Amino acid sequence: MSDSDRNPDLDVAASIEARRSTKDFLPDPIDSSCLDQILHLTTEAPSSWNLQPWRIIVVDDPDSRARLHEACFRQRQVLEAPVTIVFAVDIDAWQRDMEPIIEQAQKTGAWPDDYCDIARKAIPGGQTALESSGRLREYAMKDAMIAATHCVLAATSFGLKTTFMNGWREQAVKQVIGASARDEIAIAVLVVMGHADRTLPHPGRLPRSQTVFRQRLGDG
Ligand SMILES: Cc1cc2nc3c(=O)[nH]c(=O)nc-3n(C[C@H](O)[C@H](O)[C@H](O)COP(=O)(O)O)c2cc1C
Repeated sequence: MSDSDRNPDLDVAASIEARRSTKDFLPDPIDSSCLDQILHLTTEAPSSWNLQPWRIIVVDDPDSRARLHEACFRQRQVLEAPVTIVFAVDIDAWQRDMEPIIEQAQKTGAWPDDYCDIARKAIPGGQTALESSGRLREYAMKDAMIAATHCVLAATSFGLKTTFMNGWREQAVKQVIGASARDEIAIAVLVVMGHADRTLPHPGRLPRSQTVFRQRLGDG
């Protein structure tokens, strides 16, 4: 099955097992309908109050990729992969987006009328409280990371490889995406994506006894 087919090759469990951070990419482009499907599945991610603060920028032209490569401390996967997706957040967007989001959920019947009334009060209250405690950015980041995870697993399901990336200079990335003068925009994570030339072995994980607990966090 080619990556342009609508049906993914791998289900969620198989995609989780198959995902491996990849630095060695072939120059082959990603089929545009496949990329479109991946972006659709990415924006199917849930978010707090469905506010969708992510702003997702697909960087695939040679000049932008070269500038992004510089912004990412010249990590070679950014030059090799045909696509890098920048997951940014707009921490002010909720003010504009809240009402259309509530109206849409009301129209589809997902949110009953009384819940919509609650949302109209609770969202500004919650967001303002987060802003005054300096956590609005952090909360938007949570949503963007969930979207990025959807993206990576969707891409894996179509046979593509990815790498999440934290190694970049925020201001330089903002410059590449045309947001250098916008203080309300922050960068959450970058995802490089393409066809793998070589996939590294699984690097291993800590024993689950060290990281997963029942009821109470262990001492270890
Ligand atoms: C949030 C995040 C940021 C990362 N940043 C980078 C990065 O900048 N460069 C890089 O080569 N790998 C980066 N990685 C990849 C990790 O090194 C990799 O996920 C880890 O070694 C586990 O390997 P696996 O992804 O194959 O399971 C990042 C991973 C995550 C989740």
